[in-house]
Amino acid sequence: MNVNNKHYLTIWFQNGIVYMINQDLLPFRFEIYESKSYTDTCFAIKNMIVRGAGAIGAAAGFAMAQAFLQCDGNLNFVQKAKSEIEATRPTARNLFFATERVYRAGLLAVKNAEKEAQQIALEDIDAGKMIGFYGNEIIKDGMQILTHCNAGWLGFVDYGSALSPIYHAKNEGKNLFVYADETRPRGQGARLTAWELQNEKIPHLIVPDNAGAFLMSKGKIDMIITGADRIAANGDAANKIGTFEKAIIAKTFGIPFYIAAPTSTFDINCKNGDEIIIEVRSEDEVLYQTGINEKGELSRILVCSPGSNAYNPAFDVTPASYITGFITEKGIIEPNVNAIKNLFS
Ligand code: MRU
Repeated sequence: MNVNNKHYLTIWFQNGIVYMINQDLLPFRFEIYESKSYTDTCFAIKNMIVRGAGAIGAAAGFAMAQAFLQCDGNLNFVQKAKSEIEATRPTARNLFFATERVYRAGLLAVKNAEKEAQQIALEDIDAGKMIGFYGNEIIKDGMQILTHCNAGWLGFVDYGSALSPIYHAKNEGKNLFVYADETRPRGQGARLTAWELQNEKIPHLIVPDNAGAFLMSKGKIDMIITGADRIAANGDAANKIGTFEKAIIAKTFGIPFYIAAPTSTFDINCKNGDEIIIEVRSEDEVLYQTGINEKGELSRILVCSPGSNAYNPAFDVTPASYITGFITEKGIIEPNVNAIKNLFS
């Protein structure tokens, strides 16, 4: 990805320090957050300085590697660190995929932990690129595409999942238009997807989350592509809250609904969507909004009736029967048990 004509990854690891684009400040400020210990990296994951399936996976792998570097031969320390890292974002499959791999590698030799974490980040980049390649095949010139939340390069180490096919298609010379759901309560669509699309010079509009039925009924959407945070063995897929609603509306209007995700997001030990743990986040994300005022100062304001409480489930599960296909780094597959099993054979 390029920001101000300079190439960046969303997250990288050097000399024991995790560097990440601070997504909590975007699009208002572009800053790199530095995390020197695994606890600091846990803080960054929990507070969404880094977020999105692949980026969380890379962060968790790096945090695990930091724990090995900090442990001084004490395995209890490493095990405690693993539990703390895994408690930060429970729905995110990539997080567990990464902690398991780095933990196992580190048990053999401390230096292997960092090697494995770097390898996971590299695989994430390659997967994003290939998702773009395969996803481009179903995008026709002139299409209008709806996306929800942010599954672009900010949600991964680079390229992204849902937005990668769009970037690839644009590079092939196709004209596209993207509708970005604002994605309440945190605004990943309005803040992050819109910022990425501006950087990539892709024509787009931010739309309210509840505009889906209107847009689809007016023939304004040709296809929906979203990301996923965990996909069960039967194809049920957890993604940002509001995704299921879009899938229901898409089915009503016969609009293809694709989920783009690397194989690292599939959890074949999870039978179906009922087994996916849904993270419930702080009510403050609903009650308050953060933005900049006319002086360019960042501030947080209350946007709800003072004294009312809020409920904030971060994800919902779209049943496989609503999904047209999964765009993966190994190709586009149908949302069923056999096709998903084949991904791993
Ligand atoms: O709560 P977030 O921003 O970490 O939400 C997760 C996601 O980024 C989305 O659900 C996304 O659409 C899929 S993963 C890039």
